[in-house]
Amino acid sequence: MEPRRRLALAVLAVALALAATAAEGYNITKILGEYPEYSQFNKLLTETRLAADINKRRTITVLAVANGDMGDLAASGRTLQTKRHMLQMHVLVDYYGGKKLHQLAHGVTACSTMFQESGAAQGMSGYVNITQRRGGKVTFTAEDASDSSSPSSYVKTVKEIPYDLAVLQIDSVLASPEAEAPVAAPAPVNITELLSKKYCKSFAGLLAADAEAFSNINATKDNGLTLFCPVDSAVASFMPKYKNLTAKGRTAILLFHAVPDYYSLQLLESNSGKVSTLATSNVAKKDYSFDVDKDGDTASLDTKVGAAASVTATVKDDDPLAVYAISKFLQPKELYKVAKDLAPAPAPAGPKKKTTKKKPSAASSPSDDDDDESADSPEASDDDAADKDNAAVPSVLAGWVTTAAAATVAALALAA
Ligand SMILES: *[C@@H]1O[C@H](CO)[C@@H](O)[C@H](O)[C@H]1NC(C)=O
Ligand SMILES: *[C@@H]1O[C@H](CO)[C@@H](O)[C@H](O)[C@H]1NC(C)=O
Ligand SMILES: *[C@@H]1O[C@H](CO)[C@@H](O)[C@H](O)[C@H]1NC(C)=O
Ligand SMILES: *[C@@H]1O[C@H](CO)[C@@H](O)[C@H](O)[C@H]1NC(C)=O
Ligand SMILES: *[C@@H]1O[C@H](CO)[C@@H](O)[C@H](O)[C@H]1NC(C)=O
Repeated sequence: MEPRRRLALAVLAVALALAATAAEGYNITKILGEYPEYSQFNKLLTETRLAADINKRRTITVLAVANGDMGDLAASGRTLQTKRHMLQMHVLVDYYGGKKLHQLAHGVTACSTMFQESGAAQGMSGYVNITQRRGGKVTFTAEDASDSSSPSSYVKTVKEIPYDLAVLQIDSVLASPEAEAPVAAPAPVNITELLSKKYCKSFAGLLAADAEAFSNINATKDNGLTLFCPVDSAVASFMPKYKNLTAKGRTAILLFHAVPDYYSLQLLESNSGKVSTLATSNVAKKDYSFDVDKDGDTASLDTKVGAAASVTATVKDDDPLAVYAISKFLQPKELYKVAKDLAPAPAPAGPKKKTTKKKPSAASSPSDDDDDESADSPEASDDDAADKDNAAVPSVLAGWVTTAAAATVAALALAA
């Protein structure tokens, strides 16, 4: 095959894969919301923040129980963290649509669960046995269940999105002594102390000096928070610009570094796309989001202002709180000019239009700013030393990614 054409086909494959990913987003809360009989189970998924984890995953099976069968899950006296473990047992990390379930060979199939993945489960606990019984009956048993506990039976298939998500109803809560074991409430985290100990002392100082930003971040840390802290050298090089911001601008830019959801590094890398920040919910009518992309062994954060920042170290990764050190200060497009194309991308087959999959960059032009923040918008930066760390390659790839639709058209034209 001619190289150009091979490349075009490769691009086409990438574009189609991306288009598929985009189309498959789902919301378990919404799916279950259509069935009032699972309302308690659904409510608990939200309360334990497991719903967000489920939405981020593909190729999984949720074993739901009806309100009347909630048993141990409904019991008061269990902490939310314990209930989370119990619910995690009900999320199999493989796809079992009703058809596949009944086509399994006779006998037992062991399947890993989100509880097993959480790291809280010991040995084989965290696995669920799926057993085919005579007459087509299918039962589920936690691997660590005691002999006296009865297995849960498959009732029906509630929803199937092949081969991403299956929601099955089972007739009772899976008994698992390990998942049910009481979990102590996590020790309180002192954000200032945590950041000061490693890499981000300067950023900790900025946060401590901004009561509004600090209390917002501090109040979110137990409910799912991913904080990106620029390393000390990045703060130092950004300081002249930081000092130029108004008090409101400073609070906004600090909150811009906090994403109100927990992301392990693995989740961060595998969930490329736009993330909202605490600034999104705190600064009216502003977007304050940025793009996350996988970048080699790490993740890169792209605000469209200057080069992307990359995650350089994990300061803390302990659900519900993750803190990552990053290579540069994140500059929101709401406060700074969006960079022009950094380097002319040598794209052989596709137009290198600077469109994004999220939002046209025109919408973020500084002239949109109608409040005092526009006074804080200096020139787009190329002066941060860290900007140079990022070679052109990732941005070329990002270009392919973001122009997936255009690339598809181009590839089709070439391949024809
Ligand atoms: C999922 O759906 C629920 C109910 O419809 C809604 O409240 C929630 O905001 C949705 N979540 C996301 C991430 O879209
Ligand atoms: C699960 O299945 C394995 C065989 O695959 C068996 O050894 C084990 O005892 C089963 N556990 C339970 C709780 O049924
Ligand atoms: C958190 O740690 C900082 C620095 O070690 C300290 O000054 C502050 O008093 C601590 N805050 C609380 C609430 O313990
Ligand atoms: C931070 O949040 C904790 C609760 O997690 C609270 O005890 C503490 O007082 C808060 N610190 C500040 C300075 O608001
Ligand atoms: C700070 O603002 C002033 C006045 O707008 C401007 O002249 C100066 O270049 C800015 N400094 C930085 C580092 O952005």
